[in-house]
Amino acid sequence: MKGLVLLFIFFQSALAYSSTDLDERLKTYVNNFSLHPLEKIKETNPKLTVVGKKLFQDKRLSLAGDISCQTCHGPSFGTAEPIPLSLGTGAIGEGRERELSAGTILARNTPSLINKGQPGIFRQFWDSRVLFHPREQHFITPVSELNGDGPAYADITDVLSRAINKSLAAQALFPMISKEEMVGPGFEHLSPREAWDLITARILEDEHYAQTFSEIFPNEEINIGHIALAISHFEAVIFQRTNTRYDQYLRGNLSALTATEKKGFLVFAEEGRCIRCHFGPNLTNQVLHNVVVPPLGPGIDGRGHDRGAYENDPREHLKYRFVVSPLRGIKDTAPYFHNGSALTLDEVIEHYNHPFRSIDNFMATNINEQFRETYNGPLLVDRTPYRLFAIKESVSPIIRQLGLSADQKAQLKAFLLAL
Ligand code: HEC
Ligand code: HEC
Repeated sequence: MKGLVLLFIFFQSALAYSSTDLDERLKTYVNNFSLHPLEKIKETNPKLTVVGKKLFQDKRLSLAGDISCQTCHGPSFGTAEPIPLSLGTGAIGEGRERELSAGTILARNTPSLINKGQPGIFRQFWDSRVLFHPREQHFITPVSELNGDGPAYADITDVLSRAINKSLAAQALFPMISKEEMVGPGFEHLSPREAWDLITARILEDEHYAQTFSEIFPNEEINIGHIALAISHFEAVIFQRTNTRYDQYLRGNLSALTATEKKGFLVFAEEGRCIRCHFGPNLTNQVLHNVVVPPLGPGIDGRGHDRGAYENDPREHLKYRFVVSPLRGIKDTAPYFHNGSALTLDEVIEHYNHPFRSIDNFMATNINEQFRETYNGPLLVDRTPYRLFAIKESVSPIIRQLGLSADQKAQLKAFLLAL
C-alpha cells in the first residue's frame, strides 16, 4: 500500500515536472523565433471604421452591382469563405450556399483577413502581387502607375500612405478592378483608373457617403484611395485576434495551453519543422515558398495551371511559390491553401507529413462530392505527370517527409486549434 502511494506521488510529480519541462523547452523556441504575443491595433478614427464597414458591405463597389467584399470574406466564416475556390460576380448566394450560376470559378481560395493589418504584414494576396516594400518604402502592384517613387497616381498613393497598414490599403483597390471578382460584364473596356473613378463617383452620389467623407477629410478631393483607406482601416481594427490562448501563453499564463497543446507546440517547433517558415509575431516570415500544394481548379490559365508568384513576376525562382500564411484564427477558416485543396487541418497536417505522396495521390474526391452543387460539377484536377514533376522539382528545401506519429499529429492539430 505504502509502495502504491509512493508510486502515485512519483507519477504526480513526474506529471507536474514534465509540464514545466515542456514550458522550459518551448521557451527556447519562443525566444529564438520571436514568437511574441500580438499587440492589438488601437482604434484611432472610429468614424473611418464606420464608413469602412459600410463600404466593405456595399455592392456598389462592384460595377455589376451584385457583390461586396463581405460576400466572399464573411465574418461568420472567420472572414474567409467556406468553399475551396472562390466564385466571382454573377454567382449567387453566400457562404456554404454560394453557387456558380453565371459567375466564374476563380483560381484561388478566399483567404482570411484576420490580423492582416498587423505591422509585420507587408505582402497581400497568396502570391504577394500587392506589397508595400518595407525598405524602399513604396508600393509594388499590378498597376504600374501606383508603383515606385514618384508614382503617376500620387493623388491615390498619398492617401494610401496614411493607412494603418499600407499594403492592406493598396490591396483593397484590386478586387474592384478584377473582371471576374467584382467588375462584371459591360465594364471590361474600362482602364483601372476609369473604373476606380467611376466607382468613386457612384459612391459619392450617395449623400450620406459624400457628407461623411467631407467630414473626415475636409477640403480634400475624394478619390478611390480614400475608399480603400477606409476599408483597410475597418479591416485592420475589427478583424483582429490578439488574445488567443496562444497569445495568453506567450504573455506568461503557462496554464493557457493544455499539456497536449504544448506537446503540439513542440511538434510545431521540432519534428514538424513548421516554425522554420511560420515564425515571428504573425507566425509568418512573409517569405515565398513552394510547399507542393496539389493543383485544383481552373488555375490562372483556365487549364488548371497556377504557378504562384511567377504568374505576376515571371522570374524562374518564383515558380509555384506562395506567401507563408499567418496562422491565428486558423480553426475558423477552412478550407486551406491557395486553392482550398485541404478541407481540414488534418488534411493540412497529412500533406506536410508526406508532401510528395499528397500531391501525387490527390484526386479531389471528397471535394467533388461535397461541392458538386457549388461548382455545378467536378473541379478540374491537373494530373499531368510533367506538371506535377515541375512542382515537386522546385519544392522548398525546408520541406521534407516528416513521418509524424498519430499522437504527434493529434497534438499538432490541438495546438493549431489554439492559435
Ligand atoms: C469574389 C470573392 C471576393 C471578393 C468580392 C473580394 N475578395 Fe478579397 N480575396 C478573394 C480571393 C479569392 C483572394 C485571394 C486572391 C489571390 O491571392 O490571388 C482575396 C484576397 C484578399 C486579401 C489578401 C489577404 C491575404 O492574405 O493576402 C484581402 C486583404 C482582401 N481580399 C480584401 C478584400 C476587400 C477589401 C474586398 C472588397 C473591396 C474584397 N477582398 C473582395 C476573394 C474575394
Ligand atoms: C517551407 C516553409 C513552410 C513550412 C516548413 C510549413 N509551412 Fe505552412 N505554409 C507555407 C506556405 C508557403 C503556405 C501557403 C501555401 C499555399 O497555399 O500554396 C502555407 C500554408 C499553411 C496553412 C494554410 C493556411 C491557410 O490560411 O489556408 C497551414 C494551416 C499551415 N501552412 C500549417 C503548417 C504546419 C502545421 C506546418 C508544419 C507541419 C507548416 N505549415 C510548415 C510555408 C510553410
